[in-house]
Amino acid sequence: MRVLLIGSGGREHALAWKLAQSPLLDELHAAPGNPGIAQLGECHPVRAEDGEGLLDLARSLEADLVVVGPEGPLVAGVADELRHAGVSVFGPSQAAAQIEGSKSFAKDVMSAVGVSTPQTMSIARPPCVLKLDGLAGGKGVFVCPDQESLDQALQVVGGLGQALLIEELLVGQEVSLFAIADGRDAVALAPARDYKRIGDGDTGPNTGGMGAYSPVPEVSAAEIDELLDAVHRPVLTELASRGAPFVGLLYAGLMLTDDGPKVLEFNCRFGDPETQAILPRLQGDLLASLAAAAAGHLDSIDVEAAEEAAVTVVLAAHGYPEGRDSGSAIEGVREAEAEAIVFHAGTAMRGSQLVTNGGRILDVTALGPSIDEARERAYAACNLISFEGMRFRADIAAKAASVAT
Ligand code: AMP
Ligand code: GLY
Repeated sequence: MRVLLIGSGGREHALAWKLAQSPLLDELHAAPGNPGIAQLGECHPVRAEDGEGLLDLARSLEADLVVVGPEGPLVAGVADELRHAGVSVFGPSQAAAQIEGSKSFAKDVMSAVGVSTPQTMSIARPPCVLKLDGLAGGKGVFVCPDQESLDQALQVVGGLGQALLIEELLVGQEVSLFAIADGRDAVALAPARDYKRIGDGDTGPNTGGMGAYSPVPEVSAAEIDELLDAVHRPVLTELASRGAPFVGLLYAGLMLTDDGPKVLEFNCRFGDPETQAILPRLQGDLLASLAAAAAGHLDSIDVEAAEEAAVTVVLAAHGYPEGRDSGSAIEGVREAEAEAIVFHAGTAMRGSQLVTNGGRILDVTALGPSIDEARERAYAACNLISFEGMRFRADIAAKAASVAT
C-alpha cells in the first residue's frame, strides 16, 4: 500500500515508525513530516492545514490510505475533501471531529447517551475548571482549586473573547483510552497515562503533554471492555445517528473518580505523547488496522499489546509551553538511540546538523519488563541528549513504577 501521513510531530513520527513495520506497506509519504519521519519515508513540503495541497498530493501519489495525525486539519474538514475525491482516509469528517473541536458539542453528545462527565456550572466559583470552547492545543484548560487561581484564569480568558465552559473540579487519576473506530464499532488500544502539567509534581500550566507511560496497571483488561461499552460505543452510535459516523481514532480522556470513571474530554485523533508510549507496545499490524477502519470493517484487527511497559519522556524547549525554540543544535540523539527510541517532535535539519524547531523537541521512549525499568532506560537515554535550554520532567512514571505491571 502507498500511505500518506499528515502531520509533523512526535505522534506522527511514532505512527510512521509503526506503519513502516507493516508488510503491507510499499511506500510511506508524509506531509510535511519531520527529520525523523524522513528516515522512514518521503516528506513533501505541504502543510497539514492546506486541504487543496494535500488533495493534490494524495492524488498524484495515488495514495491507498491517508492517515491524518493532528486535530486542526480534521476539524477544518480535510478528511471530507479527501473522501469526496475517493481517497480512503483514517480520520473523522468535520462533523464528527466536533467531538474534539467543540466542548459544548461533546457535552451535548455525552448527555444524549448518558456518558458520565463533570457537571457544568453556570457561575465560576472555586473549586472549578474553566475551558475554552475550541481547539487550544491542550492549553485552553484552567484548573482553579481556589479563588486566586480562578482570578488569574479569568484574567487570561477574559481577554480572549472566546466562549467558555465552567465545570466542577474532579479529583482522581487520569487515563487516556484510545479506540480505533470504523463509524459503528471500536477496538481499544492499551491504556496510557499522560502528564499534562509542565512541572514536576503536576505543577505549573497545562501543556500538550510532557510524558506518558503504558500500560496503566490500575486499569484491567475487563475494565477496558467496560469503558468501551460505557463511553466509546454510545458516543459512536450517537454520532452515527446524527449523520456523522466517526471513522478514526476516538480518544477518551478519563478521570477515575470515587464515583467511577468520567470523561474529561474527547479527542478526534491519536494523543501526543501517549501514542509514543502505546505504539511501541503494539504487536499487531497498525497499517492493517487503520486501513480496515477506513474501509468500515474492523472485524479481525489485531491490537494486542506486548507485556513490556513503555515510558516516554518529552524533551522540551526552555520557554515551553508559552514559547518555542529554533536553530539550537541537538546533540546525542544517535547515542540515545542505542538505549531507546527517539521520536522527533519539533526538529529541523540545518545542513547536516539536527536543530530545535518547536516547543516539544524530542520524545524519548524506552521499553522494559516493568514500568520501573522502562523509566530508568528512558531517563538514561534522555541524559545522553542535549540542546540549549532543554527541559524535561523528572517524575514521569515515577509513582507508577512502584505499581507492578
Ligand atoms: P481537557 O483538555 O479537557 O482534557 O483538560 C486538560 C487537563 O485538565 C485534563 O487532562 C485534566 O488534567 C485537567 N482537567 C480538565 N477537566 C477537569 C476537571 N473537570 N476536573 C479536574 N481536572 C480537569
Ligand atoms: N496528550 C494529550 C493530547 O494529545 O491531547
